[in-house]
Amino acid sequence: MELSTAFDFSGIRMNTERIWRQILTTDNRCRLSGLYTSAIFTRMSTDTTNLLITKSLTRKFGSLVAVNDLNIAVTKNIIFGLIGLNGAGKSTLIKMLTTLLDPTSGDAFINNVSIVDKPNKIRELIGYVPQLISADGSLTGYENLKLFACLYHIPKKEQRARIQEALELMDLTQVAKRLVNTYSGGMIRRLEVVLAMLHRPEVLFLDEPTTGLDVIARNHLWDYLKAAHAKYNMTIFLTTHDMEEAEKLCDQVAIMDQGKIVVTGSPHELKRSLPTPNANLGDVFVHYTGGHLEQGGNYKAIARQRTVSKKLGG
Ligand SMILES: Nc1ncnc2c1ncn2[C@@H]1O[C@H](COP(=O)(O)OP(=O)(O)O)[C@@H](O)[C@H]1O
Ligand SMILES: [Mg+2]
Repeated sequence: MELSTAFDFSGIRMNTERIWRQILTTDNRCRLSGLYTSAIFTRMSTDTTNLLITKSLTRKFGSLVAVNDLNIAVTKNIIFGLIGLNGAGKSTLIKMLTTLLDPTSGDAFINNVSIVDKPNKIRELIGYVPQLISADGSLTGYENLKLFACLYHIPKKEQRARIQEALELMDLTQVAKRLVNTYSGGMIRRLEVVLAMLHRPEVLFLDEPTTGLDVIARNHLWDYLKAAHAKYNMTIFLTTHDMEEAEKLCDQVAIMDQGKIVVTGSPHELKRSLPTPNANLGDVFVHYTGGHLEQGGNYKAIARQRTVSKKLGG
């Protein structure tokens, strides 16, 4: 049945565990494969507020290494952008971090909780908006929210206020009683964002949230995401192949190429690391990936992207 397919997160419950501390030792310092500035390394090696770290995280599909020995650290309460072309391994990484896919080797920790050892606990800590449409088009926006509120075990007496707040935050109050399949692409994405954060996750994962949206809807979604981020102080981990998006939205970015992180830092730091004056993030990408902006992806990835674009009306 359509409804049941929309919800993989039946085990998710409200999480009250909020106090934590991550102390990086020399042993679990991030060992990125490529280049990054010493300033970034210093921050990563001494920072005690990393919410998410990966340790040699690897996923293979047969002989293909989709995610290759990945070591990254994401500070609490930032918007982190993973940039890469189609086929770079972004979705595979997000699927492992959200426990939808087992790593071949390595591990990752959110709030010190291992994705390998404690997947159920991880699901309490996260929200996830997948690349493909996840809201149920045959329900209204309100019904989608109500259903998620039940699945997240949000206490009944809190549900109404929380749903109302979510609708207001994403400017969906006026369309709450309309079927989602009558929504614009931008409205669908906004609804999916609040569905995924209704239980107030520590970290919200967004896989290419603006792919398929027109420029105006994309820019609006950035504003809504920034507002949600500011209001709830939550860490956002998003993937994108849109350099402007990474530049406008993200505090820190990591460029992923063929399963590896080649560089990480703030957009400003990365641009400054290039000898070229007035470099933009596109220049940074080309510089660190060896200049193959046009490559990436395969038939399946591009077909999937077109399906999302068609559904979102972009
Ligand atoms: N289930 C799968 N089976 C086999 N290969 C896969 C599977 N999922 C992803 N891949 C391959 O892994 C690589 C990375 O894919 P993906 O993580 O979807 O990249 P991105 O999200 O950056 O576009 C691609 O070459 C893709 O074809
Ligand atoms: Mg992807």
